Order: sequence, then structure tokens, then C-alpha cells
Amino acid sequence: MIPYGRQLIEEDDIAAVVEQLRSDWLTQGPTVARFEEALCELTGARYAVAVSSGTAALHLAALAAGVRSGDTGVTSDVTFVASANCIRYAGGSPRLVDVDPRTGHISLEALRKVVAELKGQGKPPKVIVPVDFSGSAADLEGVRAIADSVGAAVIEDAAHSLGATYTARDGATRRAASCTHTQFAILSFHPVKHITTGEGGAICTNDEGAYRTLLELRTHGITKDPAKLKQVDGPWYYEQQSLGFHYRLTDLQCALGLSQAKKLGRFVARRRAIAARYDRAFSEAGFSSALRPLGQPPATVSSYHLYVIGLVQRAGETLTQVAARRRALYDGLRERGVGPQVHYIPVHRQPDFVTAGLSQGEFPGADTYYAGCLSLPMFPGMTDGDVDRVVDAVGSVLQKTS
Ligand SMILES: Cc1ncc(COP(=O)(O)O)c(C=O)c1O
Repeated sequence: MIPYGRQLIEEDDIAAVVEQLRSDWLTQGPTVARFEEALCELTGARYAVAVSSGTAALHLAALAAGVRSGDTGVTSDVTFVASANCIRYAGGSPRLVDVDPRTGHISLEALRKVVAELKGQGKPPKVIVPVDFSGSAADLEGVRAIADSVGAAVIEDAAHSLGATYTARDGATRRAASCTHTQFAILSFHPVKHITTGEGGAICTNDEGAYRTLLELRTHGITKDPAKLKQVDGPWYYEQQSLGFHYRLTDLQCALGLSQAKKLGRFVARRRAIAARYDRAFSEAGFSSALRPLGQPPATVSSYHLYVIGLVQRAGETLTQVAARRRALYDGLRERGVGPQVHYIPVHRQPDFVTAGLSQGEFPGADTYYAGCLSLPMFPGMTDGDVDRVVDAVGSVLQKTS
């Protein structure tokens, strides 16, 4: 089975972990800081704080952005649930926003409406969490302008977009997670992402004060900084000055991450080559009118965490009928040794969000996107032959089921 995503671990990655195992440090040693420096180099952000997962990164970013009990935060309806849950972890309520069905990205028009509505209710959002869906940056400047109008912070969920770039309004090329237009960005190092540490994540920021807060929140809210201590009892002394968490990433994991970080350029180049091969094959195939590769927002260069296709809705066809054809394609691909995936079930459909009263709003874009979307295999270890096999399998199923 060719999976939709998987890690690429090479001999030097294994050697790096083994070397770490032979060292004095398994956790909280110098490799964590070295990995964080590498992340700053890769993203261009001034500071990076490595944590135990992308979800932990979102939680701490929401806290550092000032989300507290009773606050509201806003995020995209088509994302992994963690993008919305981080607002809940911090005590706030997420408000979901519809997406552009052509790109899966948050709709700025819908975002403007929701923010105006919340402002009108006297509850302007404290934070907006745009998602760099599938690997291309959200319109971060557009989101930032809306956020600034109500004094909200922006957390870029860059779990999909390490290595991606976008052209800013001033013509400059900027990197995803550089925090050029946002207060925070978060990364994930889950094995299907661009580089892996097993589980892992990081928060990027250019704000030194926020960086220091994040360092404390990552480790129980504890500080040993003499300038901050309320008293000093001895050289062993530390103080818990806020309620933090144990969200640390280990030196073992960072040794793997550091080794992987050196390969980001090669991994992203391979992902782009695979996407180009899919694009070419699907545009030339006899069944090309039946599907559409996910559109990329203007001025973005994706790093392709995902390669998503959408089944084109036929004249007179309902979304339920599109979803039935997508199910047939999913099943048919699995029968042919290809393991696709669906990213994502819109968050507003999740029972826990419905029960908690967090599903209000209209989501025609998300529902349209969801009915026909399918993520095809995309990972740097895929050969051209694997890509061709996937394309053939898609063609074979579509011919049989159409
Ligand atoms: C968009 C997005 N945000 C956040 C996360 C959470 O990352 P992690 O699995 O490292 O906690 C994911 C994970 O898939 C994701 O896709």
C-alpha cells in the first residue's frame, strides 16, 4: 500500500540519534537549542521554542497571545481539530470560518463578516488562527489587516507549510512561519510532515517577551532567571510564576530533527516535483475533466504537505452524490494498493463541537470542499513510478465508476 504520507529516515538520521544516546543528555541538553537555532534558520523567525507536538505549540501560542477564559478566537473550518482546540485549551471559544472550496483556505470575506459580527456583540476575537492549508501560506497580510482592526493577534498554523514561500504585497519573498506578518507561527514534526522528530512541534515568534513567556510555559511555568525571581534561597532555587505545562521536546528527538532539518530543501524539492508530475498527468489524462487538483492561492509557492484532488461536481449533482463518488474512489484506490486520506472533515461537523455549541455559522464552502476532496500519496520517498501507479489507479477507478 502506498500511504498518503510517511517519513523518510536515512542512515545519518539513525546515526545522529545513536550519537545522542551515547551522550550525557537524553533531554533538556544542548541539542534542543541547536534544533531551535536550525528552525530559526529554516523559517527566518528570530526565536523558536521546540515543544512536544504541534498541538502543544498551538496551546502555548494561544496562551502567549493572551487568550483567556471567556475570550473568543477564530480559525478555519477546514483544518485539523487542534487549530480550533487550542482556543478551547486556553479557556476561550473558537468561532469557525468558512473556506474557499477551490483552495481549502480560510475565506477572507467570511472572516471579515465573522469578525464584524463578534465585534458587534462586544466580543471581538483575541486571536485569529489562519491555516497554511496543504502547504501554501494563507493570505497572512489579509488576515493580519482584519486582526489589526480589532486588536487580535495572529497565530499562523504552519503545520503544513515548512519550506513554503509567498510574495508579500511589497513584492518581497517571505517564508511561511517567518512571522513577518504574524505574532506567532506553529510547526509540527509528526512523521507525515516535512521533517520529523517522531512527535514534536515548535512555536516561532519575533517577539522577545513572548519568547521568554513560551520558554516558561513549556516547562511548568518555572523560571530560574535571577532577574525575575522574587527571592533567592540558594543555587538550587527556582520559582513557578505561572501555570505552565510539561511540553518539552527531548534531546533524542531534537537530534533526529536537527539531522532532518539539513534535508528540508531536498525534501521540499522532491514534494514539488511529485506535485508537478501529478499536475501534468492529471491535466493530460482522458479523465482530466472529472477532477481538479486543489487550487493554490495567488502569490504562494507550496511546500506540499498534501496533494489534494477534488471531484468536480456535475450539473444537477448533489453534494451527497459527489461524496458517494469520492467514497467509491477512496475504496477503489485502496483495492489497488493506494492509501488515500481525507483532509479534513470540517470541524463544525465534529460531535464535540456541536455539543459544545461551537458549530454556529454557514459553511457552504467547507461542505462543498469536503464532499469531493481526497489526498493522494505525497512524501519525499515516493518514486516517479509510485506517482504513475497512483495516477493509473485513479484513472482505472474513475473509468470503472463513472
Ligand atoms: C493544520 C494542523 N495543525 C496542527 C496539527 C497538530 O500537530 P501535531 O499532530 O504535531 O500535534 C496538525 C497535525 O496534523 C495539523 O495538520
